[in-house]
Amino acid sequence: MKIAGSVALVTGANRGLGKAYVEALLSSGAAKVYAGARDPSKITDSRVIPVQLDVSSTSDINAAVRQCSDVTLLVNNAGAMLNTPILSPDGVDAMRKEMEVNVFGMASMIRGFAPILAKNGGGAIVNMLSVVSWFTPPFNATYAASKHAALAVSDAARIELRKQGTQVIGVYAGFIDTEMAAPASGPKTAPGQVAARTLEGVESDLNHVLADERARQIYDAVRRDPEQLERTQQEAWDQRKR
Ligand SMILES: NC(=O)c1ccc[n+]([C@@H]2O[C@H](COP(=O)([O-])OP(=O)(O)OC[C@H]3O[C@@H](n4cnc5c(N)ncnc54)[C@H](OP(=O)(O)O)[C@@H]3O)[C@@H](O)[C@H]2O)c1
Repeated sequence: MKIAGSVALVTGANRGLGKAYVEALLSSGAAKVYAGARDPSKITDSRVIPVQLDVSSTSDINAAVRQCSDVTLLVNNAGAMLNTPILSPDGVDAMRKEMEVNVFGMASMIRGFAPILAKNGGGAIVNMLSVVSWFTPPFNATYAASKHAALAVSDAARIELRKQGTQVIGVYAGFIDTEMAAPASGPKTAPGQVAARTLEGVESDLNHVLADERARQIYDAVRRDPEQLERTQQEAWDQRKR
């Protein structure tokens, strides 16, 4: 689908990658952008329409469905990452919190907006996934579990929604230069690049967008030698300074 003339809703639009999605949509000619945020007073850009939207709240989602009935492009960007190993004392609690946003929130948004997209001609859904949808770094395992699950949600939604003409796009990236990745060292991709590549992917009818070099590397590594990838993670875990 074309971005020009589209009506988009971005979740987690108040900062980080969500803000970059809003910018990219506006500069690519989106006719209207709804900016979802848990605290809509944080949306200060007068070109967009703020929407109260905590993706873990059924009442917020239902209200957003009523308010944004002209949406043709849903960007499921909101996400949470708690940097927690699976067997740490708070591992299960952390995973539950991350799943609430990254999996149940995304699935609930897709379910809520699918009938709207159908009514508006099909449209598209962008789901913000990660390279850790494909492999598991042990220091950040609960988040990886949630992003693995989010990939399954995204892939299943693509199959279910194909008949109504809704394109479902999974987006993968390594570290993106936002607050979420602030504690990480190593190369970080500019949020604007991820947003731009994603919108190109929407226009090119892609199912999957590998939005940076790290995504390309991990995509290849998972297919070429997954055992080696796991050995690298084992070494990192064994050498940890904890
Ligand atoms: N940064 C990375 O390295 C990286 C890499 C790959 C994929 N991703 C994914 O990219 C997406 C955007 O991440 P980011 O880097 O921009 O992270 P970020 O800087 O931490 O921003 C996260 C955004 O999600 C919102 N959010 C969190 N919980 C929410 C909820 N329950 N309902 C609605 N909004 C909620 C936050 O709102 P508040 O301001 O209210 O907290 C914020 O707007 C996420 O899905 C993330 O998993 C990030």
